[in-house]
Amino acid sequence: MSSSRKPDDKGKLWSGRFDEPVTDLVKRFTASVSFDQRLAQFDIDGSLAHAHMLGAVGIVTQADVAAIERGLAQIREEIRGGAFEWSIDLEDVHLNIERRLTDIVGDAGKRLHTGRSRNDQVATDVRLYLRAGIDQITALIKGLQRKLLDVAEKHTDTVMPGFTHLQVAQPVSFAHHLLAYFEMLSRDAQRLIDCRKRVNKLPLGAAALAGTSFPIDRQMVAKELGFEGLCENSLDAVSDRDFAIEFCACAALLMTHLSRFSEELILWMSPRFRFIDLADRFCTGSSIMPQKKNPDVPELIRGKTGRVNGHLVALLTLMKAQPLAYNKDNQEDKEPLFDTVDTLTMSLAVFTELLGGLEVNRDAMREAVQQGYATATDLADYLVKKGVPFREAHEAVAQAVRHAENRGKDLSGLPLSELQQFSALIADDVFDALTLEGSLAARSHIGGTAPVRVKQAIAKARKSL
Ligand code: ARG
Repeated sequence: MSSSRKPDDKGKLWSGRFDEPVTDLVKRFTASVSFDQRLAQFDIDGSLAHAHMLGAVGIVTQADVAAIERGLAQIREEIRGGAFEWSIDLEDVHLNIERRLTDIVGDAGKRLHTGRSRNDQVATDVRLYLRAGIDQITALIKGLQRKLLDVAEKHTDTVMPGFTHLQVAQPVSFAHHLLAYFEMLSRDAQRLIDCRKRVNKLPLGAAALAGTSFPIDRQMVAKELGFEGLCENSLDAVSDRDFAIEFCACAALLMTHLSRFSEELILWMSPRFRFIDLADRFCTGSSIMPQKKNPDVPELIRGKTGRVNGHLVALLTLMKAQPLAYNKDNQEDKEPLFDTVDTLTMSLAVFTELLGGLEVNRDAMREAVQQGYATATDLADYLVKKGVPFREAHEAVAQAVRHAENRGKDLSGLPLSELQQFSALIADDVFDALTLEGSLAARSHIGGTAPVRVKQAIAKARKSL
């Protein structure tokens, strides 16, 4: 070693081969400790499992294992209590903890890194972190779903206009509308549970990239950390972050669903709709317009969808064309991932609360559905049941709607004689088909909006949770 510099105790754990320290700017640029300290508890879990394995196969002594356990327990407490001193000189969470361990327990701490690299270490930490995040998020999804069912239960008979193209289409039960979101959220949860299987594999043992020359027992480490299997290729283990990308894709879909729901709440709360009101505790006023009550919470959730989508694209772009195996690029995986987990956690929690303060204006919904010729399809179906081919029935009803529109009336408001101008087959029983309740009740198949069916759907949904 030609270095004139003495090994510096406060310096990097890898600095031996270098002639000069990194510049201050480079140090700040390359350090990740400001954000990856969030991985600390998982880093300690991983180190403990690694140490236990090193002891079990005889790579380190049991006395070393005991010292490492003692030191890591102390560090865990220091970090939890906020007493731990993070140093940017030590670059990242891994080196900060390792250096502190050595300070506390001496040589045993220096043996911990045997057969391991920060490359497999960080991949392990991120997987442990994400696994916990997924568990938290799936629990929050279920909580939101429960709240949805609570609201739906009260509104199986509440009629609202169902829309296509945002034009009144057909009457639906408000509960049925809410159950559509229940379905979306169920798929979101399923996707996350499926993604978790691929997250929950152990990279440790891959070391830097090629594995290690020590007789390690990866199964033992996996078992202690609750991993369901091993990453089967050491190069893949340290380099790919597809599990995080996959999670972000699930997250983007989940936020997309919440954004749709948010958008509807915003529309429904506007004075043009008046379908719902959100409790004051979820709204804010305007600093200039005294009359305003703004649905900030759903608007923010809608907005945060953009940031989660952005994180997905960030991670995809981060991984694109990266040569094997580990590259420092991957240090950039953390902030988007952390923010995605945080955003989902907050959004789900606040959305669940929001639904608890939802007031439903049945009359406004009913009024709206009565204005839109929402039972026109029912009249066509009525004619078909009397033998008219559907296309002809469709045309006859279109004429009837035009007529009603000119008269400023709803179809059910036209006298029978006028309705009969459009088909001689129309009789007195037509009014059953034209009522909102009749229209709803007629759609009683699986997946339909008939209140009896919706009640069954709610019961089934409850069971699925
Ligand atoms: N802080 C690094 C990261 O987040 C840890 C791994 C560093 N490995 C390395 N060979 N420099 O990816």
